[in-house]
Amino acid sequence: MAFLADALKRVKPSATITITQKARDLKAQGKDVISLSVGEPDFDTPDNIKEAAIAAIRRGETKYTPVPGIPQLREAITRKLKRENGLDYKASQTIVGTGGKHVIYNALLATLNPGDEVICVAPYWVSYPEMVALCGGTPTFCEATIQNNFKLQPADLEAAITPKTKWLILNSPSNPSGAAYTHAEMKALTDVLMRHPHVWILTDDMYEHLVYGDFKFVTPAQVEPGLYERTLTMNGVSKSYAMTGWRIGYAAGPQHLINAMDLVQGQQTSGTSAISQWAAVEALDGTQEHIPVFRKAFERRRDLVVSMLNQTRGLKCPTPEGAFYVYPDCSGLIGKTLPNGKKIETDEDLVMGLLENEAVAAVHGSAFGLGPNFRISYATSDEKLEEACRRIQRFCAELR
Ligand SMILES: Cc1ncc(COP(=O)(O)O)c(C=O)c1O
Repeated sequence: MAFLADALKRVKPSATITITQKARDLKAQGKDVISLSVGEPDFDTPDNIKEAAIAAIRRGETKYTPVPGIPQLREAITRKLKRENGLDYKASQTIVGTGGKHVIYNALLATLNPGDEVICVAPYWVSYPEMVALCGGTPTFCEATIQNNFKLQPADLEAAITPKTKWLILNSPSNPSGAAYTHAEMKALTDVLMRHPHVWILTDDMYEHLVYGDFKFVTPAQVEPGLYERTLTMNGVSKSYAMTGWRIGYAAGPQHLINAMDLVQGQQTSGTSAISQWAAVEALDGTQEHIPVFRKAFERRRDLVVSMLNQTRGLKCPTPEGAFYVYPDCSGLIGKTLPNGKKIETDEDLVMGLLENEAVAAVHGSAFGLGPNFRISYATSDEKLEEACRRIQRFCAELR
């Protein structure tokens, strides 16, 4: 009898974590590695949020909390969704989990039966298809190509829907492409979904605040209120508030779905860290003045990276609307030869060559389901980004 669960056969380890570990190993050997593979802001958590956590500890807020979150945070979430997204939810329609990842996982665990399909838009965040598989569902795929600026087209969505489709997972701005949908683009997608009443929408709004220029973020239930009864609006504080280590994510949706997620969470993690929840109350209710500061820095870095990559032999890099990633096309380099004589057959060969020869860590596009591309996170200092792009330019120029 096999010891490990069969479900594990359907799951791949996270490619981003694998690359990050390889980069760490090279660093430990004394190499000057520039890591552009991690998905977290390089900024520190703002002081007002840290102080709220310290005050919570001093008040003795160090015990178990209600499973779906402290009432103060659930109320703060309803205020946030009203203020920023025009969405009306009762506190009982919200749930707080241990990071956005946990919230998505619980939603899938609470709803998927064997054979249920979940549409993932490629390039997708690496965890979606793996979480779907772990929960016993079947991930299906729809491509958002570079020709369409990495945005899902309504006709392709329509074609991907089957009678077995339970969820569409939509992520705007996207990890890994940075693409974000305008109101008109989102409306074209929600129009398709209105024609398919059996399909639910899990919208991952983690990068909501990280959009640049005049871009205006929208979320599906706001654009099409007719979808309210089958939308789970998921968000978190990890990216917008530089709080990745605090592990707070949340979602709002129809009461029966939230109740089911509450049931799952009650037998699993229970409520997440009390201290982190109090910090998140301050993040959502307190001053938002750091957000334009983060945004300005990210926008400057995006422009720097896009410009340098577009001056690199063999690369094409569209300018994304948001998040802190770019996803250059590297098809011009497939078939070339690395300095050690090895032929580059895939984007993974290219990324490994870049790490070994120039000590720059990026993540290959095949991990995100669309390539040949690679993902660069520009959540690091301007100096490091400039140096990394110079190394990428040299590396690409020297391929034969
Ligand atoms: C698209 C997307 N959704 C969700 C998450 C999960 O965020 P958290 O760190 O809050 O679990 C991430 C983190 O990388 C992400 O990129």
